[in-house]
Amino acid sequence: MAEIGRIAEVAGYLWTKGWAERNGGNISVNLTALMSGDEKALPALSPAIPLQEAMTALAGNFFYVTGTGKRMRYVAQDPFANGSIIRIAGDGLSYEIIAEQPVSPTSELPSHLMMHHYLRMSGRDNRVVLHTHPTDLIGMTHCKPFMQSETITRLLWSMIPECRIIVPKGIGIVPYEIPGTIELARATIKQLDRHDVVFWEKHGILAVGSDIIECFDAIDTLSKSAQIYFSARMAGYEPEGMTDKQLDDLVEAFGL
Ligand code: 13P
Ligand code: ZN
Repeated sequence: MAEIGRIAEVAGYLWTKGWAERNGGNISVNLTALMSGDEKALPALSPAIPLQEAMTALAGNFFYVTGTGKRMRYVAQDPFANGSIIRIAGDGLSYEIIAEQPVSPTSELPSHLMMHHYLRMSGRDNRVVLHTHPTDLIGMTHCKPFMQSETITRLLWSMIPECRIIVPKGIGIVPYEIPGTIELARATIKQLDRHDVVFWEKHGILAVGSDIIECFDAIDTLSKSAQIYFSARMAGYEPEGMTDKQLDDLVEAFGL
């Protein structure tokens, strides 16, 4: 399936970018519309694994999910030895692994599925959730003044016009929570009504979208902005940043 090739491609980018130390980061993609009847009917390779909350809007859906503890550099080489396809049960209360090997999904599955569920309920066509650990962006989340959605969005937008264009909904902020917890999942979905990219304080970044390459590009563009900001600061000056008018002109010019 071509989509699996795109997932492997992005997993490789995450590693080469230096955003995926050890098993850092995870990916889930809704494959339901891309799978044949025969693929959907594959027998389960695992028992039914209960979900903490009913994912009724995802009942009968299929996801490729990276495996817990698996390294992105190996997902890039062999996505099915380092991830699996899961089928959500008809009542939305459990899932089973159906292909190709019984690789246990990421510990962030609660966040990923709650996000897919929330987006589906909101009528948004976001098939992809991408979580990764970019050094520069995580570094910014260690600085309290940046941990305001408006402040960090304005700062990163103002470093380069593309950022305003490619991340038009700005950045949501989730205060620190233990990785993999339902609390982190709940705090994250609260940000999704207004944002497609969310920063997890002192942990990582998460993007949702309809296309995995676009999700990667959004995070990559934010990372570029952060690098421009830090380069200027390391050279000893505060970067001027684009003015409000320069940013607003992009809204009109690009129909944002
Ligand atoms: P997993 O290996 O379980 O996907 O965890 C990696 C991670 O980044 C947790 O936030
Ligand atoms: Zn993480």
